[in-house]
Amino acid sequence: MKITKTAFSNAIVTNYFDTSLALLKENFSEDQSVIISDSNIIKLYSNALVNRKVIIIEAGENNKTQAAADKIIEELLELDADKQFTIIGLGGGVVTDIAGYVSAIYKRGTKLSLVPTSVLAMTDAAIGGKNGVNFGKYKNMVGTTRQPECIFFDYSFLSTLPKQEWISGFAEIIKHACIKDDDLFEFLERHTLDDFMEDKVLMGQLIERNVAIKYAVVTHDELEKADRFLLNFGHTFGHAIENIYGLPHGYAVSLGMVAAAKISEEINNFHSADVKRISNLLEKYGLPVEMKTDPQAIFALMIKDKKRSGDAVNFVLLNRIGDAVAKKISFKQLQDMQNQIL
Ligand SMILES: NC(=O)c1ccc[n+]([C@@H]2O[C@H](COP(=O)([O-])OP(=O)(O)OC[C@H]3O[C@@H](n4cnc5c(N)ncnc54)[C@H](O)[C@@H]3O)[C@@H](O)[C@H]2O)c1
Repeated sequence: MKITKTAFSNAIVTNYFDTSLALLKENFSEDQSVIISDSNIIKLYSNALVNRKVIIIEAGENNKTQAAADKIIEELLELDADKQFTIIGLGGGVVTDIAGYVSAIYKRGTKLSLVPTSVLAMTDAAIGGKNGVNFGKYKNMVGTTRQPECIFFDYSFLSTLPKQEWISGFAEIIKHACIKDDDLFEFLERHTLDDFMEDKVLMGQLIERNVAIKYAVVTHDELEKADRFLLNFGHTFGHAIENIYGLPHGYAVSLGMVAAAKISEEINNFHSADVKRISNLLEKYGLPVEMKTDPQAIFALMIKDKKRSGDAVNFVLLNRIGDAVAKKISFKQLQDMQNQIL
């Protein structure tokens, strides 16, 4: 096990890498903590959680809603949970987002720890304190930013993660490489998904490297004034595609990254050979790089995107692999490019 601490202006997060559920049990008493998890994970891990207070939400992005948060709050009240309780979000990004959100608003804030169980949650969603729920078709429209006290990275959870979810998680890993780390991009080019699925040590190293990238970005820019915004690479189109077509988050982000790379080529001198490299890498890890979409429906949703500013959207473009920049692009400009990018 390796323990690191990450300092934010108003919080310190303790990260336990390569740990196990046993440590979590040692750290949190049964009567002062409650686990929030989803129906899939509970089916698989209920034996490891006997005698624990557990609140279960239905698995899936459709359940990342205010209604699900309200139901959790109702159950917390039934359990007589007070502000000293630790809420433990144990699951993929849906669970870590909703558990973080409830812990921020229930009685104006309880303690929070996270146990990410998917590749996506271990490398991205559990890190950085952003939480929230969707509002109708609009992704992450309601939420707060608040750091957990601890994050427990227990890689053994990945043994039960379906392959499709492994693939989805690699989209955010490739995103980190595209915006911040060309060495990581080349490292991913040299390996395959199977290498990481078969080698827990290699996967552990990859997770730590991605956590370090995300922490470096978010600790430098806690309020999302500059660098943090770059983490949205691929997400403007990605979120719209995710909502309209119901694709897993990473699959939609993959399509969004290809579109963003093409826009970077059109208006930011990004090299066409590097557009191809990104698309090849995404494909190599099993992610989609093209899909027939309805541009009008996508633009209609983007108008409501949090990143919109007037008749333009703040968009993340690439200068080169490993170096990203945010630029305002008008909807008109985007629509003019739609044939090249979608
Ligand atoms: N807060 C952030 O900074 C941030 C960053 C990126 C993504 N996100 C959010 O994360 C969510 C996507 O996360 P996700 O892909 O983990 O989705 P998810 O939580 O829906 O998990 C994907 C599926 O895998 C299952 N699962 C998870 N761990 C498992 C395990 N160990 N064994 C078996 N099944 C398991 C879940 O039950 C679910 O069916 C989206 O809502 C996205 O908005 C948040």
